[in-house]
Amino acid sequence: MANVVIIGTQWGDEGKGKIVDLLTEKADYVVRFQGGNNAGHTLVVQGRKFIFHLIPSGILHSGKVCAIGNGVVVDPAVLIEEMDHLLEHGILLSPDNFIISRYAHIIMPYHRALDLARENRKGKAKIGTTGRGIGPCYEDKVARNGVRVHDLLDRKALMNKLESNLEEKNFLLQHFFNEQPLDAHSILDEYLAYGERLAPFAENVSQCLQAAVEQKRNLLFEGAQGTHLDIDHGTYPFVTSSNTVAGNACCGSGVGPSRIDQVVGVVKAYTTRVGGGPFASELLDETGERLQRIGGEFGATTGRPRRCGWLDMVVVRNAVRLNGLSGLAVTKLDVLSGLPTLKIAVGYQCGAQQLDAIPPEIHALECCQPIYEELPGWEEDIQNIRRFSDLPGNTQRYLKRIEEIAGVPLSIVSVGPARDETIVVRHPFDVNI
Ligand code: IMP
Repeated sequence: MANVVIIGTQWGDEGKGKIVDLLTEKADYVVRFQGGNNAGHTLVVQGRKFIFHLIPSGILHSGKVCAIGNGVVVDPAVLIEEMDHLLEHGILLSPDNFIISRYAHIIMPYHRALDLARENRKGKAKIGTTGRGIGPCYEDKVARNGVRVHDLLDRKALMNKLESNLEEKNFLLQHFFNEQPLDAHSILDEYLAYGERLAPFAENVSQCLQAAVEQKRNLLFEGAQGTHLDIDHGTYPFVTSSNTVAGNACCGSGVGPSRIDQVVGVVKAYTTRVGGGPFASELLDETGERLQRIGGEFGATTGRPRRCGWLDMVVVRNAVRLNGLSGLAVTKLDVLSGLPTLKIAVGYQCGAQQLDAIPPEIHALECCQPIYEELPGWEEDIQNIRRFSDLPGNTQRYLKRIEEIAGVPLSIVSVGPARDETIVVRHPFDVNI
């Protein structure tokens, strides 16, 4: 038995979905613990396309329980749409394969309205949020004004919360942002209907996971976004509104830290970022465009093109420390095939200073120039290779250098989008603890 956390080491979109899908084979429970429908990944299974924003993709495997923990912010309309889409494809959700925490917070229409209004007002300084209401929902959680799943099951409690919240939100929307006010009664009916639909799945997820641990079941915790979008440890303020680091797998699901055995950091073989914020190794040239085109770097949630650049190991090393990584999953390695020379950022030049870590101030990071190490590329198509030792010498050298700089062993290498286009070096569920 082992419990494994999967985390993105960069700014999200590292290809976690595929790694989670792969590891789900050996998991009994797959748990989301933070974020909301700002995340998204696409899976194609037997020619059928599924886009998941909230439900763990483990739902496509039979015999697994997928859980949405208390740390997730849930847009119920999006969740129900995902449930309906699964149903259309013959995948039935029941409390035996899907549970949602009664304590997860609900994204309300005023959260979305405020998210969009704030971004519009910020003009050039905008964060580039996904506009899904994630930040305002977490704000209300911390301000203790949030609506939680269990509130959707109680007409009176919901009406009380709506009335007091809308008093403030409508004032802001109308008088500060010049937007339309929202009506409590129409929200009430809509959200009670969502509550009715979600009621069978609403659980104390912490207790369910504790029972699973006692039965020696394998738990897989699926992180959303990436380490550098973490509200505390990321490139603030260009971050999301939750803790994306491994430690939050515990807070966001109600499982104690001593239960976690392995933390796998997903490292895309190059770097991407969506939205605003510093990105030292960004490439605004043909190579950047090539990575974007060949890597299909367009968001699954908003369709926005992702900014692309060389692999930044300063960023990855930061993620090693923040998450206590025990293994690395390197993804999209095939995208680099055909590039004559590859660069890896190993430090930053910040004025006269050379740094080997991310500077504490965002303004300093904005001025950092990457210090690159160059490695020879490879011409070969690596998509059909299934053993590390069969990879071209230069590909092996690139991976070994990543391992060496990170100081963390390789667990998995992904050489193509399909589930089997993978080299498993050291399976996280099989590592002796
Ligand atoms: P929010 O999470 O919608 O508030 O957006 C805050 C920042 O996080 C923006 O730069 C988004 O583009 C970024 N972001 C949020 N979710 C993801 C994700 O799943 N992948 C990559 N970037 C994300």
